[in-house]
Amino acid sequence: MSQITVTAPLLPSLEEFNALLKEIWDSKWITNNGRFHQQLEKELAEYLKVPYISLFTNGTLPLITALQALRITGEVITTPYSFVATTHSLWWNGIKPVFVDVDPATCNLDPARIEAAITPKTTAIMPVHCYGKPCDTKGIQEVADKYGLKVIYDAAHAFGVEVDGESILTAGDMSTLSFHATKVYNTIEGGALVMHDEKTKRRIDYLKNFGFADEVTVVAPGINSKVDEMRAAYGILNLRQVDAAIEARRRVAVAYREALRDVPGITFFDDMPGVRHNYSYFPIFVDAEQYGMTRDELYFRLREANILGRRYFYPLISEFSTYRGLPSAAKENLPIAHKMADTVICLPMHHELTDNDLERVIKLVKKY
Ligand SMILES: Cc1ncc(COP(=O)(O)O)c(C=O)c1O
Repeated sequence: MSQITVTAPLLPSLEEFNALLKEIWDSKWITNNGRFHQQLEKELAEYLKVPYISLFTNGTLPLITALQALRITGEVITTPYSFVATTHSLWWNGIKPVFVDVDPATCNLDPARIEAAITPKTTAIMPVHCYGKPCDTKGIQEVADKYGLKVIYDAAHAFGVEVDGESILTAGDMSTLSFHATKVYNTIEGGALVMHDEKTKRRIDYLKNFGFADEVTVVAPGINSKVDEMRAAYGILNLRQVDAAIEARRRVAVAYREALRDVPGITFFDDMPGVRHNYSYFPIFVDAEQYGMTRDELYFRLREANILGRRYFYPLISEFSTYRGLPSAAKENLPIAHKMADTVICLPMHHELTDNDLERVIKLVKKY
């Protein structure tokens, strides 16, 4: 039986890509803010409805760079229910992560629990729009404003997500994106940092280019996170087809919801009112008692049938050896995140899933 993967990369037409490669070859300008780089930044800012964006080589370096640019130190409050890069970005800046539990309704940082974790060393909050589901940005901002904290959103999953017609990327002080091959929109490897003003954009552009402001001036110890022309051209082509890919994903979500709504012990998220979702993942949560099978039993059954779900986000970041000694990583501090991590499976979700693929996944989850 053919393999059904959890995701599939959105690939541009090879013919169109080759034509752009020819242009790059002819120009001999292959990296360092080239023509396609500039064009992609412009087109992405328009598509995402944000005033300023800087391209990065992946979705981890914009997190690290945002913390640098905002001069964040001390302690940062964050979620354990995410990909490990979120917390690693704090570690790389010598910042102590403070884990706070999530809201089961959204799987995102619960604003009601943030205040209790604030100490005199707290300087910022780093929430994640997990699975592309918007955080309670208003609730988080209220706490941030009360204590004078910065907010950096890890929006790696939230490409194109809007709330009431407005981009989710306008929340907080900065937001980061990942354009990794597994994401809704990809540039093979890639990412971006979204900011609200031109001065910050200029500073970020220096920081991702070793700190160079001009040929002879280095303003800060920057990093190298420049995007080459090949990936920028690839990104321009993929942007033209991302809406169709999101629509295909939406249809998959509708099919899963219809088929699985009445399965005892299986729960999932519905669309949130006023939100333009991107359907980046389709997590289901398995209540072993009601379902009659544990999450892992179902996960391995799917694997035996050549259906590769993923247990995102298990284990929690707070369980990894680097972080589990932190007081905030204690299991008792994070009961909801633990429950979600122990029961979740992300079902295959991408633009190329066929009706036949969906039938195979659904039949297995329904135990036919
Ligand atoms: C929530 C989250 N943050 C950060 C990253 C890091 O992105 P990248 O793999 O592009 O470095 C990822 C994904 O891979 C992610 O899922």
